Parts: sequence; C-alpha cells; structure tokens
Amino acid sequence: MSNSSNQDNNSVQMPSKIEQTLDLRKFVAPEIIVGRDARLLLCRYLQHFTARRPMIVTDGHLLDLPWFQEILEQISSCTEDHFIFSDISPNPRDYETMLGADLFIAQKCDVIIAIGGGSPMDCAKGIGIVASNGGNILDYEGVDQIKLPGPPLICIPSTAGTSADVSQFAIICDTLSQVKKAIISKKVVPDLALIDPVPLMTMDMYLTACTGMDALTHAIEAYVSNAQSALTDVHALEAIKLVSENLLDAVKPERTLDTMFNMLQASLQAGLAFSNASLGAVHALAHSLGGLLDLPHGQCNSILLEHVIALNYETAPARYNRIAEALGASPDRDSLLERIRELRGRAGIKPYIEIDDISDKLMDQLTVNAVSDPCIVTNPRQLSIQEVKEIYGRIFTTQKS
Ligand SMILES: [Fe+2]
Repeated sequence: MSNSSNQDNNSVQMPSKIEQTLDLRKFVAPEIIVGRDARLLLCRYLQHFTARRPMIVTDGHLLDLPWFQEILEQISSCTEDHFIFSDISPNPRDYETMLGADLFIAQKCDVIIAIGGGSPMDCAKGIGIVASNGGNILDYEGVDQIKLPGPPLICIPSTAGTSADVSQFAIICDTLSQVKKAIISKKVVPDLALIDPVPLMTMDMYLTACTGMDALTHAIEAYVSNAQSALTDVHALEAIKLVSENLLDAVKPERTLDTMFNMLQASLQAGLAFSNASLGAVHALAHSLGGLLDLPHGQCNSILLEHVIALNYETAPARYNRIAEALGASPDRDSLLERIRELRGRAGIKPYIEIDDISDKLMDQLTVNAVSDPCIVTNPRQLSIQEVKEIYGRIFTTQKS
C-alpha cells in the first residue's frame, strides 16, 4: 500500500499512532461468548439467571430451522416452560413492542432470549424496557431516558451486521409518524451475547450482503465519529478489514463456516465500536429512509454510504485514508469511494432505490427526519439541509426514468 501526503499515514496494523483524545470516554459491552456452537451454552446462563419461563423473541421464519430447534430443545431441558413471541416486522413497530411487553407480563416470563437479526433483538430490548418501566416504548427515545433495567436479556444473532446483540442502541419504528426512533442507553446492552457462526449458514444471500454492508457502515461511521476513542478505533479498523476480506465470499453459495465466522467477528467488532462511539450521517439518513419507505436498513446504508463519505472526506482525510487502507485500497478519496462501490456492487446491491414518485413532500419529510436523528450529531461534518436533500436526490430513480 502506498502512503498519502496526509499527516498520518499509519497502516491498519499500527494503531499506536492513532490520535488519542483526553476527553472522557466510556466503553460498555455485554458478556460475550463467541465461537462455534456458542448457542448451545444457553442453559448454563439460563440457570445462572434462575430462569423458569423465558420469552423467546424471534423471527417467525427461523422457527423450523434445525439450529433453532436445537436451541428450543436446550431451553426445554433447563426451564419449566417458555413462550415464543414472533409477531415482529423487519423494521420493528412500536405496537409490536407494546404487545410483546404485555405478553411478557401476562405470561409471567422472567428472562428474554432474542434470536435472529436486528429486528427481533431491538424489539426484545423494547419489550424489556416497557416490562420494567411501564409507559409507551416511544417515551424512552433519545439518550439515557430509561430508569430501570429490564429483565435479563440474552441475544443469539442469526445475521452478521446489526450488532444489536452487543450495542446500547434499540431502533423502534413510530408508526404514527413513520419515523424510526433511536433509544440509546446502557440499560439496553444485553446481559449476554452468544455469538455463533452456525445460524449464519442459513442466512439468504441478499440479507448477508445488506447486513455485511451495515457492519461496514457501523465501523466506518464509528471510526470518523466525533465520539471515537482509542478503544473504539481498534475495533472499527479490524471490522473494516474483516468485511473487506470476507463479504464477497460470504455471498457465494459455497461460503464456509470460517467465512461466516469472520463476518460475525466483523459485526461484533463494528458493534463494539459504534455502540460506544455512535454513528453518523449515513445512519441518520438511513433511519429516515427506512422509516418512511419501510426499506431494509442495510440496503439503505449500502446505497447512502458512498455519498456521505464523498461529503465528509475533507473533514477527516487522514481517518478516511486509513479506512481506505483497511479496505485494501490506496489511501485517497477516489480509491476509497471506488472500493466502497465495488464491494456494494459485487455483493449484489444496486446503487439506487426505485420508487413510483419522488415528490417534494417526500424529499422534505426525509430531510427533516434525517437532521433530527441523534446519529447526525456525531457525524464529523455538519451537513446542511440542502446537502442532505441532495444526497436523497442522488439515490432515487422512478420506474419511468
Ligand atoms: Fe446499522
């Protein structure tokens, strides 16, 4: 790799010269067990939490998969009973969370086990908040708005990207306003993450692509965040490198358990980074887009990422150049953007979103929601209303065009 003329040209393997900050930072993480068949350690922890009737919060289409059945057998062997809640949409709704909380209480459950992707895990976090604190899930929007911790929460991810299994974020859709609301609190960090590559082998290819690009976006946004620290930097850079080296193998039918484990490790490290450094404009714009148009989160990020980097680059060129190096590209703006486009394209994600009509009203609403999202605060560059609108203008295409 060649070096640029930037003031800092360290390679990924030399994080010691990454800028340090003397500003206060904290780093929170759950207990993490990572490795093949980690999911089968569930009983040990259910006994630790003295669980008698856990609620399993999951995605309905996972229920018949062999690895899921193995987990159910585990749970049955060490608890009196369990209750399965799977009425959850891809972008989990406020009313689904409220229904789950009602059922948690009515069914006299005592522990929550979230199994699946980001949607069931975020919904599970919301269920725990409401079960312990009452009120409506949307009351807890924002940073540190939760008084009481929820019941013990164990997460077993079946995708590699969301990182809800390690993060202090829960994203819930406010169905009235069609806005995805971010709940950010140490109290939604799970108690335990069982991170096992086996469930990932059943993930479909497009979901693998989208969640992998989501993990990449988490790592990049955490690395250039205003709230980064030395602790988040090392995780972010390693995650970027792992996605770069494994994503395209992960979307092939002949993918291996090792490849999926590397993607899971990337997701884990990106999650540790963004949970503690927060995110940026890609996620702010993606939350707005996903909320209004009900689109997959990872797809939104994948499409927006290159446009936000193009705007942000000059604010933090040294950091973006190190990201380029971690992606195996030359440390300059154009090479970085080209590599991001290459990864997205070869993973099978289009660079645009097709909609029937791009109205001024839609563009205005998207923009208003994006600039109100808490993730915009830690973007390295303050984006103007016009710049946000212009990004949205670049990613849409109509059926007619
Ligand atoms: Fe994300």
